[in-house]
Amino acid sequence: MPAPLLERARISLRLRALDLRDRVGGRADPLVPPRRMHFVGHADSDFVATGDEFLGHFRTLGGLQPSDRVLDIGCGIGRMARPLTGFLGVGGGGVYDGFDVNPDGIAWCAQHYESDHPNFTFVVADLFNSRYNPAGTQSAAQFTFPYADGRFDFALATSVFTHLLEGEAERYLAEAARTLALGGRLFATWFLLDDGSRAALAAGRAALAFPEPDAHVSLLDEDVPEEAVAFDRAWLTDALRPHGLTLTSVHEGGWRGERRNAPSFQDIIVATKSGASA
Ligand SMILES: C[S@@+](CC[C@H](N)C(=O)[O-])C[C@H]1O[C@@H](n2cnc3c(N)ncnc32)[C@H](O)[C@@H]1O
Repeated sequence: MPAPLLERARISLRLRALDLRDRVGGRADPLVPPRRMHFVGHADSDFVATGDEFLGHFRTLGGLQPSDRVLDIGCGIGRMARPLTGFLGVGGGGVYDGFDVNPDGIAWCAQHYESDHPNFTFVVADLFNSRYNPAGTQSAAQFTFPYADGRFDFALATSVFTHLLEGEAERYLAEAARTLALGGRLFATWFLLDDGSRAALAAGRAALAFPEPDAHVSLLDEDVPEEAVAFDRAWLTDALRPHGLTLTSVHEGGWRGERRNAPSFQDIIVATKSGASA
């Protein structure tokens, strides 16, 4: 067997053994998918710890409230949904809708949430993404989110705009704005190109070596364009404005090579829907 296949088989066996150990030891959390199904985040990232960490960011940086109606754009296999089950709806009102292009992740979530958490709903979108759904048949650049105007108070997209091309990202900003109510917040992670990250890239400090830091969009890997995408920060501010979204805060991420005060690996932005477009 060729070495890469052998390595993949070895990892798969190890993950299955760990899943079995969790089940036998009664440690399996019903909202944590088996390790062999994880397809989000780094191989060594912790599904539960990352979700818990982001719930903290949603609250402290994004002002998330238990009564909020939440949209999870590119919800994957429920890494952000899991901690939200203990937060949304406490005291009434909060609901969650997630969609993703990965049918396995959505099927798993639908099966594991919808009976015990009826305020959580998951939908699959058949969209092409070279990294996550190469068999997808439709373009995300023309996709209309399957929700009514103004339906949500809080839209989140963790590690999603980092996997979208320019036309797709523009469309998703427009759709996030359309489906947010006035005063609603968009919480999203990005790789932003600005003076700080450009200096880090030039010095070889950045964790991801985007090859065209002076462009307004830079692809990490031309062969798999959606593997990782960085956008110019001024481009983002301008792209938000026509949709009535105002950038309210930017929290620079550890990918820039200085982890000390970074809340997360990617840059986090919060934008607020004011309704007034310019
Ligand atoms: C790195 S994962 C992050 C998943 C999830 N947001 C999380 O933090 O656990 C990127 C996700 O974006 C999804 N995705 C890629 N293109 C998408 C698109 N056009 N629309 C919705 N989701 C998309 C992928 O299927 C994948 O689940």
